[in-house]
Amino acid sequence: MKLQADYSFLLSGLLLAPSVGASTCQTPIDHPGPAFSFVQPLNTTILSPYGHSPAVYPSPKTNGTGGWEKALAQAKDWLSQLTVEEKAWMATGQPGPCVGNILPIPRLNFTGLCLQNGPQCLQQGDYSSVFVSGVSAAASWDRKLLYDRGYAMATEHKGKGTHVVLGPIAGPLGRSPYDGRTWEGFAADPYLTGVCMEETIIGMQDAGVQANAKHFIANEQETQRNPTYAADANATTYIQDSVSSNVNDRTLHEIYMWPFANAARARVSSFMCSYNRLNGSHSCQNSYLLNHLLKTELGFQGYVMSDWGATHSGVASIESGMDMTMPGGFTLYGELWTEGSYFGQNLTDAINNGTVSTDRIDDMIVRIMTPYFWLGQDQDYPSVDASVGALNTDSPPDTWLYPWQFTGTSNRDVRSNHSQMIREHGAASTVLLKNERNALPLRKPRNIVIVGNDAGPVTQGAYNQNNFEYGTLANAGGSGTCRFSFLSTPLDAITARARQDGALVQTWLNNTLITEKAMPDLWNPEHPDVCLVFLKGWSEENIDRRFLELDWNGNAVVEAVAKYCSNTVVVTHSAGVNVLPFADHPNVTAILAAHYPGEEAGNSLVDILYGDVNPSAKLPYVIAYNESDYNAPLTTDVQTNGTYDWQSWFDEELEVGYRYFDAHDIPVRYEFGFGLSYTTFNLSRLAATGSVATNLTALPEQRPVQPGGNPALWETVYTLTTEVSNSGSVDGYAIPQLYVGFPDTAPAGTPPSQLRGFDKIWLEAGETKTVTFELMRRDVSYWDVVAQDWRIPAGQFTFKAGFSSRDFRANTTATFVRDH
Ligand SMILES: *[C@@H]1O[C@H](CO)[C@@H](O)[C@H](O)[C@H]1NC(C)=O
Ligand SMILES: *[C@@H]1O[C@H](CO)[C@@H](O)[C@H](O)[C@H]1NC(C)=O
Ligand SMILES: *[C@@H]1O[C@H](CO)[C@@H](O)[C@H](O)[C@H]1NC(C)=O
Ligand SMILES: *[C@@H]1O[C@H](CO)[C@@H](O)[C@H](O)[C@H]1NC(C)=O
Ligand SMILES: *[C@@H]1O[C@H](CO)[C@@H](O)[C@H](O)[C@H]1NC(C)=O
Ligand SMILES: *[C@@H]1O[C@H](CO)[C@@H](O)[C@H](O)[C@H]1NC(C)=O
Ligand SMILES: *[C@@H]1O[C@H](CO)[C@@H](O)[C@H](O)[C@H]1NC(C)=O
Ligand SMILES: *[C@@H]1O[C@H](CO)[C@@H](O)[C@H](O)[C@H]1NC(C)=O
Ligand SMILES: *[C@@H]1O[C@H](CO)[C@@H](O)[C@H](O)[C@H]1NC(C)=O
Ligand SMILES: *[C@@H]1O[C@H](CO)[C@@H](O)[C@H](O)[C@H]1NC(C)=O
Ligand SMILES: *[C@@H]1O[C@H](CO)[C@@H](O)[C@H](O)[C@H]1NC(C)=O
Ligand SMILES: *[C@@H]1O[C@H](CO)[C@@H](O)[C@H](O)[C@H]1NC(C)=O
Repeated sequence: MKLQADYSFLLSGLLLAPSVGASTCQTPIDHPGPAFSFVQPLNTTILSPYGHSPAVYPSPKTNGTGGWEKALAQAKDWLSQLTVEEKAWMATGQPGPCVGNILPIPRLNFTGLCLQNGPQCLQQGDYSSVFVSGVSAAASWDRKLLYDRGYAMATEHKGKGTHVVLGPIAGPLGRSPYDGRTWEGFAADPYLTGVCMEETIIGMQDAGVQANAKHFIANEQETQRNPTYAADANATTYIQDSVSSNVNDRTLHEIYMWPFANAARARVSSFMCSYNRLNGSHSCQNSYLLNHLLKTELGFQGYVMSDWGATHSGVASIESGMDMTMPGGFTLYGELWTEGSYFGQNLTDAINNGTVSTDRIDDMIVRIMTPYFWLGQDQDYPSVDASVGALNTDSPPDTWLYPWQFTGTSNRDVRSNHSQMIREHGAASTVLLKNERNALPLRKPRNIVIVGNDAGPVTQGAYNQNNFEYGTLANAGGSGTCRFSFLSTPLDAITARARQDGALVQTWLNNTLITEKAMPDLWNPEHPDVCLVFLKGWSEENIDRRFLELDWNGNAVVEAVAKYCSNTVVVTHSAGVNVLPFADHPNVTAILAAHYPGEEAGNSLVDILYGDVNPSAKLPYVIAYNESDYNAPLTTDVQTNGTYDWQSWFDEELEVGYRYFDAHDIPVRYEFGFGLSYTTFNLSRLAATGSVATNLTALPEQRPVQPGGNPALWETVYTLTTEVSNSGSVDGYAIPQLYVGFPDTAPAGTPPSQLRGFDKIWLEAGETKTVTFELMRRDVSYWDVVAQDWRIPAGQFTFKAGFSSRDFRANTTATFVRDH
């Protein structure tokens, strides 16, 4: 028996390191890769002209506060058995079967850690399910759905041996609708995203799998998310560094950090630091961000891992609070993978020569292993399924240096009965935007025309890994991509349903043909009862969207059909915001936004179309009239050559999403929180319950920090109730929403309305229920940059309840803090 792990395979491995052609994620730049320096390679004197992040050292040690105390003790015991080399490799990824791998230590029966994508499925999973996407889940405004989805998804991951799911996502939050990854995350609102994060994380971790809150932070564009390097040299220098998100303190707290605070509070196991710089400093080596904001202010007790290749230094990152580098053995260099990392053997050397203190490396390992013991991952955990390794395109088997062993059966089916749940979730996530002349639900139509390249099957394999012309979009591209074991398409599901009604179904899937030929030439023998037009909008990691229209000439397809079809129903499968110019067309009687609904796309849609499920989903963002109506444009190019010139100025501050449209009274087509039902609801009498605290202290009591920060911020300080009734004739779910208007004493720039509560309640026709909104101290506070704390302003608050951010039905006022 060996007394310590043997890493000699790495020596031969480095010589045998595969060519860089292995990855799907690379750009085909032909150069041999960088010579890394262990210490920060950049000239750190040149920081953002905007601001910079103050240095905060040392990195705080975890103490397991908030429920991890016992697991912390186990982790410390475990740590005491490790050699220096083992410690270094515990913090360093290696190519292997999972998208991220921590090496096994066989003498301790430690089988390593398997980190896997992604936020909608097990990306490398055969016989696994594809759930509804993040944006879809957010559109449900349904806490139970979010929990159940997280739990079920993590159960599948666990069945295939995943220890850490790389998700959920609170960044991008959706500052700009053009961001390529908003669909992987949730809502363009910190409160709703915060709830989504918390429910998803609790669900995943209840299933015994570690969750990972990513991407921390202000990761609001894909363009230039990584540095560009000289292609003709060995590229020790950047051509230009990654984009810097320049965000002020108040905005960071009230918008971008808010949902991550929920994640910390939910005891998320790990955070992922992002590709972008923040105020000029790489997120993974920004000590103010990681040591101060995350590990001190938010009391985060777990570990910080890098995004894949977001590590740009060794010591600097470690001292700044990053605990694990990924993918480690390989480094993403620009968009190119190369062997070697700043950690690994280099970290061993640095510990041995005292550059990295034993205290710090020990804290890194304890942070990594505490969630592992807390979730019982040391007990009978399923082995990694060999099939996930075979499906790994990030580090395919020929890149593995370590001789990975597989036990247990391979190609395990982990789907259980999740498809039924996914179908329900798909229906609960489908937003009805327009419904005129009683177009929906369908009533046994006899003559149905199905139009558009989004209606039918994917014709090029199990992945939707490209914006293929044909095939419905139930998921999209990048690390959030899913491998379908089957996909219910709208065409299949509608056809099956129509056959029950003896209906005629005519199908036109070629968008070019539709826009070139007049539709009446195509259909016969009579005018259709309904024309269902399916449009799609692709989005993917590493590329931002260039437009907000639907793909494949979608607008023209609708025009071509609606010109002749008086009952045209449009369904979109897309990443998020689409401007919908055809919404005013009198023959477009209904519009449904189904986003990316996962494997039961067709069936869940039929449930809505035919009224088996009454739609209840609401937009988690704003649909404006014009693309030019949106603020906060991405930084898509720079005119200068300076290394650090990519800057994204978050000058809109708090005016993100509906906060901007409201502050400037800009009319919108469909507002945040909007979505129709087949019934109608009323809401009345918003009133405080219990005695209203009119003399709260402006600042919270300073209590020992727990995960999520000062626990005083999370205490209920105010409770409101309202009466919601179903005034129509169909049973259904209502989603009453509560928005707060701060008093004038709050600093300039405070948005007119901010979401601070919502609920999803079942109401039979004619029924009335009381809904309760509990507000926490954080909900009625702003971030005071001078006090460096959350302050409740003096003066009168207005609380507005209704069915969207622009449909308030009742309001009330309250004052919490005496003026002096
Ligand atoms: C770093 O940049 C500063 C400011 O431009 C400059 O004064 C300094 O000489 C640079 N240091 C190195 C090592 O290049
Ligand atoms: C970024 O810079 C702004 C402006 O100086 C400052 O308000 C903020 O606290 C800084 N944030 C971080 C994380 O460095
Ligand atoms: C490893 O597992 C074996 C077999 O179950 C057991 O005998 C041994 O004590 C374990 N070693 C450690 C360090 O847990
Ligand atoms: C690039 O690296 C190769 C191999 O390490 C070396 O021979 C060559 O001199 C380097 N070129 C430059 C421009 O640094
Ligand atoms: C535990 O760590 C947190 C910061 O993460 C700190 O605020 C708290 O005081 C520590 N608790 C104890 C008991 O040391
Ligand atoms: C250590 O760093 C050097 C360059 O600084 C790099 O070439 C090497 O691959 C790294 N070692 C490991 C084991 O990652
Ligand atoms: C310690 O080791 C690291 C990694 O090899 C190296 O970069 C650093 O220069 C060394 N420091 C000393 C003082 O030897
Ligand atoms: C779609 O229709 C266009 C126009 O008629 C035609 O050129 C094209 O080949 C068709 N595509 C397919 C896949 O049939
Ligand atoms: C709506 O459809 C009818 C056919 O049913 C057609 O006559 C009419 O011109 C269409 N309206 C528009 C505005 O295209
Ligand atoms: C950027 O660099 C290129 C090549 O060195 C040079 O031709 C160009 O003038 C530079 N542009 C600016 C705006 O400095
Ligand atoms: C608020 O008023 C109540 C009742 O008058 C009193 O008991 C309490 O101490 C006061 N709290 C503060 C923070 O002043
Ligand atoms: C509050 O409700 C009243 C009565 O319905 C209405 O007149 C007023 O405009 C509302 N105020 C706000 C801020 O919504």
